[in-house]
Amino acid sequence: ALERTLSIIKPDAVAKNVIGEIYTRFEKAGLKVVASKMKHLSKQEAEGFYAVHRERPFFAALVEFMISGPVVIQTLQGENAVLKHRDLMGATNPKDAAPGTIRADFADSIDANAVHGSDSLENAAIEIAYFFPATDVYAR
Ligand code: CMP
Repeated sequence: ALERTLSIIKPDAVAKNVIGEIYTRFEKAGLKVVASKMKHLSKQEAEGFYAVHRERPFFAALVEFMISGPVVIQTLQGENAVLKHRDLMGATNPKDAAPGTIRADFADSIDANAVHGSDSLENAAIEIAYFFPATDVYAR
């Protein structure tokens, strides 16, 4: 089915200057960028975005990392977009990520892991709405 998912290029990948390489992977896989922005998140914005992880031991480090520099946030649209995007990213921990995935190629650690992607269609809708009002998503 035609789906949308929320994707974030994290501060480590922005600093490595691989925004374009990552966008190219999305496009070559048939995912369209239908919303996009660069943003240096506030602590409040990062905490709110990752609220589901609030009780996890890595929460504070995750938030600090996500506000360490600007990120690039996009909504991707395509057939089976949620799973397709997760396959392109590879495993959360780059040590476990399959060769050729974004995390295998650009991530350094489980914290600095280059990209974020929604883990389900339900969360995708929540995450897209967190960053993009409906008027800023361009169906195409
Ligand atoms: P992300 O997909 O952005 O969702 C939450 C992030 O927490 C995850 O990627 C990792 O970068 C980070 N993280 C750090 N430690 C862990 C862990 N043990 N399990 C899952 N995520 C972790």
